[in-house]
Amino acid sequence: MKNIIILGSTGSIGRSTLEVVKQVQERYKVTGLAAGSNLSLLREQVRKFKPDVVSVKEGLAAKFRQMLPRSIKVEVVSGTEGLEKVATLPQGEMVVSALVGGVGLLPTLAAIRAGKNIALANKECLVMAGEMIMAEAEKGGIKVLPIDSEHSAIFQCLVGHRKDDLRRIILTASGGPFLTYSQKKMTAVTPEMALAHPNWQMGKKVSIDSATLMNKGLEVIEAHYLFGVPVKQIEVYIHPQSSIHAFVEYIDGSLIAQLSYPDMKVPIAYALSYPERLPVSAPRLNLLEIEKLTFLAPDRQRFPALDLAYRAIQEGGGLPIVLSAANEVAVEAFLERRLSFTQIAEIIERVMSSYNRKEPQTLDVILEIDRWGREKAEGLIKNL
Ligand SMILES: NC(=O)c1ccc[n+]([C@@H]2O[C@H](COP(=O)([O-])OP(=O)(O)OC[C@H]3O[C@@H](n4cnc5c(N)ncnc54)[C@H](OP(=O)(O)O)[C@@H]3O)[C@@H](O)[C@H]2O)c1
Repeated sequence: MKNIIILGSTGSIGRSTLEVVKQVQERYKVTGLAAGSNLSLLREQVRKFKPDVVSVKEGLAAKFRQMLPRSIKVEVVSGTEGLEKVATLPQGEMVVSALVGGVGLLPTLAAIRAGKNIALANKECLVMAGEMIMAEAEKGGIKVLPIDSEHSAIFQCLVGHRKDDLRRIILTASGGPFLTYSQKKMTAVTPEMALAHPNWQMGKKVSIDSATLMNKGLEVIEAHYLFGVPVKQIEVYIHPQSSIHAFVEYIDGSLIAQLSYPDMKVPIAYALSYPERLPVSAPRLNLLEIEKLTFLAPDRQRFPALDLAYRAIQEGGGLPIVLSAANEVAVEAFLERRLSFTQIAEIIERVMSSYNRKEPQTLDVILEIDRWGREKAEGLIKNL
């Protein structure tokens, strides 16, 4: 029985993780859950999985306690401290890091420092502090196992091979809902259109990030830190069928790929059970039904967010933090209809261009740069 903690349990990844746990109940005990403000769903999760401690957004602990029947014994905590408390519970062995955005950084780092293995979905924490996170993990002998389907695929394609023999990594991207839209048509995209991803059911932010291709840019940075591969060896191909999640090419020209039906339960189960595999019940890929597999180079003009991410990691310093912070604010503003779809990348570019470099050597500096990026983006959006 492995004791697990799920940060972001009410989100898309959190819910899929609990579905996997339900399928193999004899193997996992959920000891901690953390969510934001979806209290009714959290109450259901508490009833079903009986964790010892749960965390909710700042200010919601009393309300949540009142929502729970007296018969349920669970400690309720809240806010940043609550997230860290849940992430570092002594009885927890593995933390599923599935909060969305920069809020995932502190609890993920705290979990690593407390000796927990990490099943990582929250890519933003690696974009903000990849070097620090991977160094702390190495120091503590902690495994950081990818949940992101592309990174799970790369991880699986690397097993049993020498890293010295690796030539390049190819991350695939579905291309999102606007793959064939003209530049002009993209200016009129609404949040509803952008949230309708063709292949994956995901949370709002990652759905918008997929539509702009920023998600793939963040994933390039994530892959760079997770696998220690230089960014110039990481490429992106559009693959609209989302059957192949990534390729790893070796120096002899061999390409190894991982395929599965696009269902996050598959990579989640692998991260939970590595090096074993679980007989998880998820739809299977029917190869006989696949008529063709297509690959295209991304259109970097229509999807400038991808190159912004490459630029951020290549220039380095605090720029990836600025990229992630400005993106989070711009996506939120787009969802609130304060910004058009094409203005998301414009705002990020403007914030990045007005950043004067500061090396993010400490956590305080990382958080300061993050704050700066958010405030700058907010200011630019207000003045549009
Ligand atoms: N969804 C996917 O298929 C997928 C695939 C690969 C990687 N990822 C990555 O996984 C991460 C999560 O994505 P998602 O799609 O699962 O997001 P999501 O559906 O939006 O869920 C986000 C979770 O974070 C919680 N949360 C947000 N802000 C919070 C705060 N300030 N304090 C406490 N909890 C907070 C939410 O709680 P409430 O809802 O209760 O407020 C929810 O549980 C992202 O980094 C994403 O890029 C997702």
